[in-house]
Amino acid sequence: MPIQQISHPLVRHKIGLMREADISTKKFRELTAELARLLAYEACKDFPLETVAIQGWAGPVDIEQIKGKKVTVVPILRAGLGMLDGVLDMIPSAKVSVVGIARNEETLQPAPYFEKFVGDLGERMALIIDPMLATGGSLAATCDMLKRKGCTQIRALVLVAAPEGIRLMQERHPDVEVYTASIDSHLNEIGYIIPGLGDAGDKIFGTK
Ligand code: URA
Repeated sequence: MPIQQISHPLVRHKIGLMREADISTKKFRELTAELARLLAYEACKDFPLETVAIQGWAGPVDIEQIKGKKVTVVPILRAGLGMLDGVLDMIPSAKVSVVGIARNEETLQPAPYFEKFVGDLGERMALIIDPMLATGGSLAATCDMLKRKGCTQIRALVLVAAPEGIRLMQERHPDVEVYTASIDSHLNEIGYIIPGLGDAGDKIFGTK
């Protein structure tokens, strides 16, 4: 299934708190990080395990470890940075690749202006993070960039997804699984998700 809306009560509760009109920067940032942790937890739930024998406090013991899964987290600038620490709390050994995408105001198409990827993308699962899946242009462009560099396993974590962005991802990248705290109603005439969260970047960074 390419889109998964997480039904856990903690996720449902926290995304609701983020919709408050006069939420503080501190609270919005904290909730973004908390939801990023919970979405990362969900996105890793099928990682394969292997049994390893170790010396425990009372003698030899078999433990389970995640088997050879290497991850790169890919924040899309700027708002994706707000989710980075939360995801790294859950996957501390992950490497970070960063993507910056602007919109070309003439063509209205996404225009990448920055990329710094880890070198071994072919061996890693990429977890793209961006709070808002609106038109889907930036997410689809990031998937294009990762695939061109040899990445074959991509998942995306978003706080809120609009049907328009989900449709674009299904057309362009049906292999990419998207984990979201909420599927909202629609985009308004200037591209904001309704009911949405407003401008997530401004709310995380305290700009406006
Ligand atoms: N980006 C945002 O920050 N909010 C939206 O609603 C859409 C895109």
